[in-house]
Amino acid sequence: CRLVRVLGIETSCDDTAAAVVTGDGLLVSETNRHQHSVHAAYGGIVPGLAAVHHQANLPLVLRETLQRASLSIGDIDAVAVTRGPGMAASLGVGVAAAKALAAVHGLPLIGVHHMEAHALMARMGREDVVQFPFLCVLVSGGHTMTLVAHDVNSYTTIGSTRDDSVGEAFDKVARDLGLPWPDTQDGGGLGPALEQIALRGDAQRFPLPVPMDKSTSALSPDFSFSGLKTHVRRMREAGAFDPLVAQDQADVAAAFQRAAVAHLRKKTALACRHARAMGVNITCLVASGGVASNAAVREALADVAAKEGVPLECPPPRLCTDNGVMIAWAGVERLRRGLLDPYTFDFIQRWPL
Ligand code: KG4
Ligand code: ZN
Repeated sequence: CRLVRVLGIETSCDDTAAAVVTGDGLLVSETNRHQHSVHAAYGGIVPGLAAVHHQANLPLVLRETLQRASLSIGDIDAVAVTRGPGMAASLGVGVAAAKALAAVHGLPLIGVHHMEAHALMARMGREDVVQFPFLCVLVSGGHTMTLVAHDVNSYTTIGSTRDDSVGEAFDKVARDLGLPWPDTQDGGGLGPALEQIALRGDAQRFPLPVPMDKSTSALSPDFSFSGLKTHVRRMREAGAFDPLVAQDQADVAAAFQRAAVAHLRKKTALACRHARAMGVNITCLVASGGVASNAAVREALADVAAKEGVPLECPPPRLCTDNGVMIAWAGVERLRRGLLDPYTFDFIQRWPL
């Protein structure tokens, strides 16, 4: 079982990705083709375009993944694929390919929930530390949520965002501050740039309210970032700061980051309390997603973890974004428990965890 090789395929959003992972958590091979530049001109992901690019790229991504490790399909023991949630046409490309590959070669087929894969990623190669049950905070451009991972295939979502994701808020505020979109192909967003200038800022100069801090919403474990984002936009429109003045930029960035981090800290602490109220004794706090690479966010989450008396575990940033490795690893975890799917299964566009 430690020697099995699982092929993982991910096409739920704008990454066409595949990877091969072994039963003992070794990454054998990995390929990822982004479509960031395809969608950048539209200011968001265009579903039809995404599917067309998955169609074109997936065969090449699969071939490259095997060839890189001098493998052939005969060396693969099971095929795992993102079954949902995601964009229908895009999910369909990955699921159809996985079904055909598995059926033709008589391999076990494993449909994976995208969020389960994000949550389980932290366990690859670290199963001794990241034991069930654990609390997972997913903070990226696509996701903002807390969940309890009781076991493989067993999760309770505690809080999720009511509007924007935290990554979206960082990106939109950074744009309102006039920060230029980074000239990279990897679509890392504007968060890192905002974090950089916030270091030189005075968070007290433009105090921003921490979201959901009023008496009723303070008790909810949900997140909300659109109010904070809009607050900054209104300030700019009212001329409260000048995005062309570097110190103004830095001060607003610092104020925004402080409020966003305070919000993440409070809601994560609340999620820990919810877990305890459910009778769950978490072994660690797992933070994943692009925003978890922010030093202020990490510090706040480490603090929450310390108060809970558990370690904070973060997968390497590269494995926090959408990738094929997490699907292959989730495939390993499900295969071990005999959680297989029939060759006739279909994708699920909207799929609660
Ligand atoms: O996980 P990720 O790389 O991709 C997906 O969203 O799938 O997350 C990207 C998001 C972007 O919104 C980006 O601005 C944000 O994470 N981000 C950050 C930082 N690094 C990435 N936000 C704040 N601080 C950072 N250091
Ligand atoms: Zn994702």
